[in-house]
Amino acid sequence: MSPDITSRPIALVGLMGVGKTTVGRRLAKKLGRDFFDSDDEIEQASGRTVAGYFRDHGEAAFREGERRVIERLLDETPIILATGGGAFIPASTRKILMANAITVWLKGDFETIMERVSRKNTRPLLQVSDPRKKMRELMDARYPIYGQAHIKVDIANGPHLRTVNRVVKAIQAYEKAHAK
Ligand code: S3P
Repeated sequence: MSPDITSRPIALVGLMGVGKTTVGRRLAKKLGRDFFDSDDEIEQASGRTVAGYFRDHGEAAFREGERRVIERLLDETPIILATGGGAFIPASTRKILMANAITVWLKGDFETIMERVSRKNTRPLLQVSDPRKKMRELMDARYPIYGQAHIKVDIANGPHLRTVNRVVKAIQAYEKAHAK
């Protein structure tokens, strides 16, 4: 049985490598909701990979496409949305997410994130000579902004399912605290 939980869309935000896509997919299954990933939607709409999009059009154009995709996905349907790591950063996209979804910041520790992102080299922002330094810069710049999400969940060491359960509990607690 799916837990009694918000009927609003749920949007997962946070840095690359925290598991937004995997956790989101499993959360959707648990709650019987549809799942979307904003990076996948951009790739489908543009016919390019995220890396190709950055290369050909630049980051500003990507952010614009990302905002449009998120706005389209967050209609009234209670979907689960995994956002790209930078989606919550521009004020315009953040505003759309905050107004139309319960936003959940998945927060990971530095070494776990680095270990996970080093498994794939598809992330354009980490194609630099010192990815660890870049990740620290992203953490410094973005954590105060991710901190504006409705809910923060520390990702669990071990199976993603443990993080999924934490997300469900955190949303239930948030709703109880904000019940009118
Ligand atoms: C980005 C994160 C990526 C992707 C793009 C930019 C970011 O998504 O949207 O490479 O700015 O942190 P993931 O967090 O799913 O890797």
